[in-house]
Amino acid sequence: AIDINKLRDLTGIITLDPGYKNSGSCKSEITFLDGEEGILRYRGYSIEDLAEKANFLEVSYLLIFGELPTAQQLEQFENGIKKHTLVNEEMKNIIDGFPKTAHPMGVLSALTSALTAFNPKAVNVDNEKEMYEAICKTMGKFLVIATWTYRKSMGYPLNYYDNTTGYVENFMQLMFKLPTGPYSANPVVVDALDKLFILHADHEQNCSTSTVRMVGSSHAGLFASISSGVSALWGPLHGGANQAVLEMLEEINKDGGDTDKFLAKAKDKNDPFRLMGFGHRVYKNFDPRAKIIKKAATEVLETLGVEDPILDIARKLEKAALEDDYFKSRNLYPNVDFYSGIIYRALGIPTDMFTVMFAIGRLPGWIAQWKEMRENKEPIGRPRQIYTGHPLREFKSNK
Ligand code: ACO
Repeated sequence: AIDINKLRDLTGIITLDPGYKNSGSCKSEITFLDGEEGILRYRGYSIEDLAEKANFLEVSYLLIFGELPTAQQLEQFENGIKKHTLVNEEMKNIIDGFPKTAHPMGVLSALTSALTAFNPKAVNVDNEKEMYEAICKTMGKFLVIATWTYRKSMGYPLNYYDNTTGYVENFMQLMFKLPTGPYSANPVVVDALDKLFILHADHEQNCSTSTVRMVGSSHAGLFASISSGVSALWGPLHGGANQAVLEMLEEINKDGGDTDKFLAKAKDKNDPFRLMGFGHRVYKNFDPRAKIIKKAATEVLETLGVEDPILDIARKLEKAALEDDYFKSRNLYPNVDFYSGIIYRALGIPTDMFTVMFAIGRLPGWIAQWKEMRENKEPIGRPRQIYTGHPLREFKSNK
């Protein structure tokens, strides 16, 4: 292998790869992805197996610590998280400062960053116990503040974590419990969410994860790094696509359901419109998560007795795109976000919370990648550039 640093010193040549389409940024043992074959594995386990047989906390533990937990380790992990679900009351003053109309992802990024103010001590990554506590703290507090972004947008009082139920059940009660009475989450909804969180839990060096690793590489703390991951995820070319997909499907529905018209728009190079939920930087065959989600969407809607014309439009659009030469020649297939919004909608999750749902699912992946980056003692991320600006200019004031 060529030592790229020696090559640069000897020749002055650097690699230019905008968008890092062909640049590896690290070695990782966490997630295996084969874009040609449509394979996704966490720590060697297939995504299909994990989505069917594991629960979200088990998968979180697997990603972060490298092995599936024993029953005792899982209980300990769950209890560790419960210990850290109280969020400092002063955080509420910060929430109060946001307008109700603020997008939940903006609020989530700010609140995650604000957690650093209440937890100022830098975690010692070489101390196993300290790391474990920091991980549990992040898993606990992030879930609570993620749901608070929704409560804030609705003007509802904020709910607290209920230590008598599980992590995903807690997501539901934190979101939807009213002060007037008890709340019990529908098990069908909990199962569906568990699966969705697992499917989103990690995806190697995607934009938000690379951001978390990059920010963490300067030895910024876990909350600060994750807050930047939330911001990266928000964009419509990444996690924000799930909201954009649903808005697009609604627009097609309102327009009379003419999918061909929107397909033509997506192919028109003079039109910035893209078919949201289609295409992927790495999957050039199919996204294995999309297959699982498509099946789950049909099952969830059937079980809950929800009839949604949006699902029919999604199916029609997918079929037309898969038969279209433009999409075929560019290997554009539905990605994980194409069907996830339909499930979220059936579960009663509001559209502008969709990307927050993605963030909750992706959290263990971000933590695992941050931890691996620090344990591997990776150097600070600092890419080079090709300068294309002015040569030296003599200063002459324009005043
Ligand atoms: N609709 C129409 N055309 C598309 C689409 C789309 N969704 N996606 C890619 N293309 C076209 C491009 O215009 C380009 O065409 P050209 O070769 O004629 O110029 C070609 O396919 C290659 O596209 P790139 O943008 O170069 O591919 P890249 O790997 O950079 O982008 C991305 C991947 C961002 C996912 C892109 O496919 C896209 O914008 N998709 C829609 C947004 C989306 O669904 N994002 C979620 C991704 S999954 C995730 O983050 C969880």
